[in-house]
Amino acid sequence: MTTAVRFYDHQPVESSSLTMREEVLAGLRAPQKYCSPKYFYDQLGSELFEKICQQPEYYLTRSEEAILATAMNEIEELAGKNATLVEIGSGASRKVRLLLEHMEISSYLGIDISRDFLLESTAKLAADYPWLEVHAACADFCQRITLPEGLTEGPLVGFFPGSSIGNFSPTEAEDFLTGLHSTLPEGSGLLIGVDLIKDTATLEAAYNDAAGVTAEFNLNLLRHLERELGASLDPERFIHRAVFNSTHHRIEMHLVSTMAQVITVAGETFRFQEGESLHTENSYKYSIDGFQALARRCGFVSRAVWTDRGQNFSVHYLERRG
Ligand code: AVI
Repeated sequence: MTTAVRFYDHQPVESSSLTMREEVLAGLRAPQKYCSPKYFYDQLGSELFEKICQQPEYYLTRSEEAILATAMNEIEELAGKNATLVEIGSGASRKVRLLLEHMEISSYLGIDISRDFLLESTAKLAADYPWLEVHAACADFCQRITLPEGLTEGPLVGFFPGSSIGNFSPTEAEDFLTGLHSTLPEGSGLLIGVDLIKDTATLEAAYNDAAGVTAEFNLNLLRHLERELGASLDPERFIHRAVFNSTHHRIEMHLVSTMAQVITVAGETFRFQEGESLHTENSYKYSIDGFQALARRCGFVSRAVWTDRGQNFSVHYLERRG
């Protein structure tokens, strides 16, 4: 019986905060100020994201879970028995439970940037599935991932749900999949959730939920900067904005300054005009063909693709080819 989680820390606290400082400052110095969406995910941000997934307007989670539930037998056939699941950006490790309930999986590796959240959720998994060998790696999955030794013995299936691939630009998505191609052994599977292009109203509602959870999530980024980098700013002087950019097929999230103001981050001052924004996230949407073509360019072939009834969301089973 295994209840302990094997933990790998690829992110010593000090060097990560140094990188965060440099990255954040570079974004704030740019003509269109921006901040990487990975800085949403401190403990509170990760919890808020889980809350977003439960909002009625945020169809992505419900649609993906419905697809996984109906496609389970086919997924198991494609993955084979006793596979190792590698969940990239594991968060609350909730969707993987669907797979663990229905498939013969021998081990699990969760990779996430939010250390405490990762430890908590993988410990819960290990307690709930005592037969499962559970590994946790605290790492920024935007960087090249190295799998811990011993994991690569059985069939391997990468799991990248939730359309997190959409938070990369198409070029970054290609780099990321090309990196995964080097990480995963030949023949490995990749089960990946990808949100689909659809009408603007549905898309914008998903990122502007009536309960204001997405707004809180967006604004928490400023609180994260305050806590981690000793920023001096007032989050109440910014408002959340999410709009669909139909030229680039992406939802853009911004924090818009409600007044002319100066903020200080890591000792450096930045001026905002009234109405000027900090661009915090892009969430790209794809067509099925468009995503399959992108995956092919990175050495993955499509073995299967499923959508929900409303054609809102897609789940692809890709295979890593030489
Ligand atoms: C994690 N990621 C796929 C979410 C998305 O839909 O782009 C993050 C998110 N941002 C606002 N709501 C949810």
